[in-house]
Amino acid sequence: MKIIRSSKQLQRILQKERVRRKSVGFVPTMGALHEGHLSLVRASDRGNDITVVSIFVNPKQFGPKEDYKKYPRVIGADVKKLQTTKIDYLFLPSVTDLYPKGCATLVEVSPKLTGVLCGKFRPGHFRGVATVVTKLLNIVGPCQLYLGAKDYQQAAVLSRLISDLKIDCRVHVMSTVRETDGLAMSSRNRYLNSAERSRALAISRTLLKLRQNLMKNPGMVAKLRASAIKELKENIDRLQYLEIVDSVTLEPVKRSQKKMVALAACFVGKTRLIDNVIIRTSPKARN
Ligand code: PAJ
Repeated sequence: MKIIRSSKQLQRILQKERVRRKSVGFVPTMGALHEGHLSLVRASDRGNDITVVSIFVNPKQFGPKEDYKKYPRVIGADVKKLQTTKIDYLFLPSVTDLYPKGCATLVEVSPKLTGVLCGKFRPGHFRGVATVVTKLLNIVGPCQLYLGAKDYQQAAVLSRLISDLKIDCRVHVMSTVRETDGLAMSSRNRYLNSAERSRALAISRTLLKLRQNLMKNPGMVAKLRASAIKELKENIDRLQYLEIVDSVTLEPVKRSQKKMVALAACFVGKTRLIDNVIIRTSPKARN
């Protein structure tokens, strides 16, 4: 595994790999790696000749009151974890490399996708994500990109962006990796104390139960959503949203449809956590 810090240098190296007809898979991250990230890395390893992982805590996707400064930065531990995989290049750019002085371009995806759900509570967040991922895709030039379903809205926004900008790259959205008790793995879980960690379980529990109930009673979207909200509020400190939406447009669904997603964002103590479940109903159950 080679560590590369300069975007110019990585671009040069990967251009040569592509000339040699090597397929490049890419996994962008902000580090503090866990099994969720590593599942993406392994998928890329399996599907490509070369895998590139980036670790970059992107200042542009954090709001002024968010955790940019205290976001966990544990490069030594991350390198060790990546050494257990077969990755070829670890890209560790600096803020000034990706955002040099005078840099004046931002990438904006329609508010229909970025102004809802998390975007409602984190203005500018998806602009920051879209901007940095566009830059990274231009630097790496992968033919396959690996994203986690854990950040469902992010994956929907980036899939739209890649399709709209005709970026020649296939997007793979990999299943959420969970702890054995169901909590979705997240770099932010390390902020939780043990009492908060137990209460945080209510998020996955509620969403999984909601999915089960919706599959049994697809006509009861509004009622089941309301009772899931009630149940979640009993356990966590502040609910930002719990929505059931169309899996592509992210518009709230009124009646069950073939593929939906139930997503939630809430605070447990001072930690903001998100999770979601994908819900597929059979035509028979919907009628
Ligand atoms: P980060 O939160 O580090 O996540 C990097 C990738 O890992 C994302 O695609 C995310 O969805 C995926 N991931 C996180 N937890 C996961 C889990 N439990 N199971 C499966 N996949 C999981 O998302 C970002 O970084 C940034 O916004 C980024 C895309 C790198 C742009 O800065």
